[in-house]
Amino acid sequence: KYKLFIFDMDGVITETSEQHYQAWKKLAKEINIEIDRKFNEKLKGVSRMESLERILKNAHRENDFTDEEKLEFATRKNDNYREMILKCTEDDLFEGVKDLFIELKKRDIKIAIGSASKNAPTLVDLLGIKDYIDYIVNPAEVKRGKPAPDIFLNAAEKLGVDISECVGIEDAEAGIEAIKSAGMFAVGIGDSTVLNQADIVYKHTKDIDLEELMN
Ligand code: G6P
Ligand code: MG
Repeated sequence: KYKLFIFDMDGVITETSEQHYQAWKKLAKEINIEIDRKFNEKLKGVSRMESLERILKNAHRENDFTDEEKLEFATRKNDNYREMILKCTEDDLFEGVKDLFIELKKRDIKIAIGSASKNAPTLVDLLGIKDYIDYIVNPAEVKRGKPAPDIFLNAAEKLGVDISECVGIEDAEAGIEAIKSAGMFAVGIGDSTVLNQADIVYKHTKDIDLEELMN
């Protein structure tokens, strides 16, 4: 019944949500702000500039910096993040991802990447999964980021698949919200108490049960 699976990347295909967290933590520290993992849940799936805004706002520092300074912070975070991910190889794919891709292709189901990250194409290359991916959403091309549905709708539209035939897979609260407001079936990866809006939640990507989803 499903013809397109739209995967989030960070935290679903590979553990780069950890590197995003470490890079933000470092940047925040440099401007005397502390962030923790619980707050970080609110950054998952959220664009670079919006993440920075949330960090500043949470520390009541949103009016302390000029736009240029904010841009410099975001660039610094990204440079640091890119340095961390450039070491990624096929070995950094989460367990089960490649088998899942192979199984989806066998069933003639399309695969898209619906990440808010502008680094998604780089990671797809480094992780060696390019051949399985039919389309990577360019977040710069869509109007609104997650939790708006735009990223997921863009993938369905570009691949010409009906919304009712799409599945979205996400580890972020904002991402699940985006899938649901796109009107798609939402698979959560992680903690079911955090991702309580999802239609189904698996602890890890390798736990995804295609038989269960397709029936
Ligand atoms: C993903 C991550 C976020 C990140 C966003 C933008 O959604 O979950 O943590 O802020 O992408 O990533 P970028 O690589 O463009 O800074
Ligand atoms: Mg994610």
